[in-house]
Amino acid sequence: MGQPSITAALLLAAAAVALAPPDAPALAAFKAGRAALDAILARFRPSTAALAGGAAVAAASFLLSALVNLGAAVRVAGGWGRLALAAAASAPGPLGSSVRAELESVAAQVREAVPPRPASLGPPRTRLPAEGTPAPAVLRALRAAAAGDGVRLGATPTSRASGTLYLPGGDHARLTSDAYAAFIHSNPMHAAAFPSALALERDVVAMAGSLVGAGGVADVGGFITSGGTESILTAVLAARNLAARSPGALARAAAPGAARRPFDLVLPSSAHPAFHKAAAMFGLNVVVVPVRADGRAAAADVGAALTPRTALAVASAVSFPHGALDDVAGIAAACASAGVPLHVDCCLGGFVLPFKPGGPPLPPWGFDAGPAVASISLDPHKFGLSHKGVSVVLLRGAPRRRAAYTTMVNWPGGLYASPGLPGSRSGALVAAAWAALVHQGRAGFARHAASIYGAVGVLRAAIESGPLSADLAVLGDPVGPVLAFGAAATGSGPGGRTRLNVWAVGDALAAKGWRLSALAHPPALHMCFTPASVGSAGALVEDLIEAVAAVKAAQSAGRQGDGAKPTADAGAMAPLYGQATKAAGSSLGAAGVAAFLEMYQDALVTGGGGKEVK
Ligand SMILES: Cc1ncc(COP(=O)(O)O)c(C=O)c1O
Repeated sequence: MGQPSITAALLLAAAAVALAPPDAPALAAFKAGRAALDAILARFRPSTAALAGGAAVAAASFLLSALVNLGAAVRVAGGWGRLALAAAASAPGPLGSSVRAELESVAAQVREAVPPRPASLGPPRTRLPAEGTPAPAVLRALRAAAAGDGVRLGATPTSRASGTLYLPGGDHARLTSDAYAAFIHSNPMHAAAFPSALALERDVVAMAGSLVGAGGVADVGGFITSGGTESILTAVLAARNLAARSPGALARAAAPGAARRPFDLVLPSSAHPAFHKAAAMFGLNVVVVPVRADGRAAAADVGAALTPRTALAVASAVSFPHGALDDVAGIAAACASAGVPLHVDCCLGGFVLPFKPGGPPLPPWGFDAGPAVASISLDPHKFGLSHKGVSVVLLRGAPRRRAAYTTMVNWPGGLYASPGLPGSRSGALVAAAWAALVHQGRAGFARHAASIYGAVGVLRAAIESGPLSADLAVLGDPVGPVLAFGAAATGSGPGGRTRLNVWAVGDALAAKGWRLSALAHPPALHMCFTPASVGSAGALVEDLIEAVAAVKAAQSAGRQGDGAKPTADAGAMAPLYGQATKAAGSSLGAAGVAAFLEMYQDALVTGGGGKEVK
C-alpha cells in the first residue's frame, strides 16, 4: 500500500462520510472523533496544524512504500531465510561457528551427491591442450563417455527413465540427426544468409500451433526457443512489457511512492519453476494459488487472485508434478472478466493431448479455451520428438509479439532486432524439429499417443486395482503421459502403523536402473511415459511390486523411517533428495535446503564438488 492507496482510502472515507445517512452510528463516531481532533488542533495555529497533518500523511506514505519496497528487495535477495542465514554465518562467537559447521556439513553432503566424472574422459581439463588431438582419438573419448551414461536411446522403447528421452530410437532418431547435420552451420538470426532455416522455423511454429488451436485464431504467431523454460521466459517478458505500456500501469508507476515491482504473475502451485525464474528475472511478484486435491488449478481460486496489477496468469496442460490438466477454459473465463491475459503451458501436453485415444473428450485447453489465452508454450524437444533445444512460444496479436522483441537503432554495430532472449540460434535444431514433425505427421503422433496412454493405463491399473493398490495410490487426476503415485492413505504399512516410504521405493527402483522423478508435498514418484519408454510399463509394474515389498520389509525391521515424512537415513531418493532432506532436518531448515541446492548446482557447474575452481 503506497501513497496512491492512501489517497484512495482517504477519498473513499470522505465519500462514505458524505453519503452516510445522518443517523448512522459510524457517522456519530466519526463526528465524536472529529470533535476531539478539533479540540486538540485548537491549541495550534491553523497553518501549523495543516503543515503537521500534511507531514504526517507524507511520513506514513513514505513508511508504507519503504516497507513495500523492502519486501520486494528482500525477495530479490532470496528471502528472509537466506538473509538470516548469511548474517548468522558471518556472526562472531558460537552462533556463527555452529552455523558455519552446519554449512560445512551441507558442503560435505554436496560432495557426496555430485555425480563422478567419467573415467574415459581422463582427469579434468583445466586449460586448452598445447597440441591438438587427432580426430579419431577425440571421437573415441566422446563415444566412450556417452556409452557410460546411465540413459541411452536404444532401438526398442524400453528406456527406464521418466521423461528424459522422448524420441523413438531407430529410423526416427537417424532422420532427426541427419536433418541436424544438414543444417549444422545455419543460424536463423541471419535470415538473409539462411532463408531455408527461416522457412523451416515458420513451418514448425505453424504445425505446432495447429495442435493448440492457433489455426482457428486470426493472429497467432511465434518463434522457436531453446526449450520450455525459454518459451515461458519469453511469454512472461512479453506480458510484463505489454502490461507496463497500459495507461493504467503508467499512471500507477508515475504516482509518487509507487511500488518498485508493480506487476504480479499469478501461478498455480503446480506451475513449472520456469515461471518463478521469469518473475525473478523480470521483476514480477509471484502470487501462488494452491491446486485442489485433484492436482488441478480451479478457476475460482485463480480468479480470486487476479487484480489490476496482474500482468499474466498461468495454467498448465498438463502440469509436471501430477500430469493434471488445469481448468483452462474456466481460468480463461475468469481472466477475460478481469481483463488479464493467460499463458497456457503446454510444454508437456501439447503434442500428446490432441491425440488422446478414446475416452471422454478433454475440455478445451488451447487457444480455443477463450480469447484471454494470450500465449502458449509447447515443446518439440519433448513429445514433438526432436532433439533437445527446441520449444515453440506462440503469442496472440502483434503487440504481444512485438513486446518480446529487442530493437536497437543507435548501436555502433548498426541496426539490430531479435525475438525473445537469444541472439544467434541453431538452424540445425530447427531442421531436426521440422523433420520430426513432417516425418511423423498426425498419424505418427496418434500412434505414439496410443502407446503412451496404453503404458500409463498399465501402471495405473496396477496401482488402482491391481497388486499395488494396498500400498500405493495415484495422485491427482492425470490425463496425459505422467502418472504420479504416493503411499496409499490406507496403506497396509508394516504392522499397519507406518506409511510406505515412497522415496525409498524410488531408491530400490533406481538400483534396478529406473529413474523416476521424486516429488514432494506429499512425497511421491512419477513416471512420464514417452515413445522411448512405452515398452517398459509391464517391467516397471513387476519391479515396483518387488521394490514395495523390500521397502516394507526394511520398514518393519526398523531400517527405514515412516514414509509419512521420509528421512535421509531411510536412503530416500539418494543421493540428491536424501541429502536435501538431511539439510532440511538440520537446524538450518528450509534456508539450509536452498543453500544445499545452490552449492550442488555450483558443484555441477564448476565440477568442484563444492570447492571453487580457480
Ligand atoms: C509443464 C512443463 N513446463 C515447462 C517445462 C520446462 O521445459 P524445459 O526443461 O524444456 O525448459 C517442463 C519441463 O519438464 C514442464 O514439464
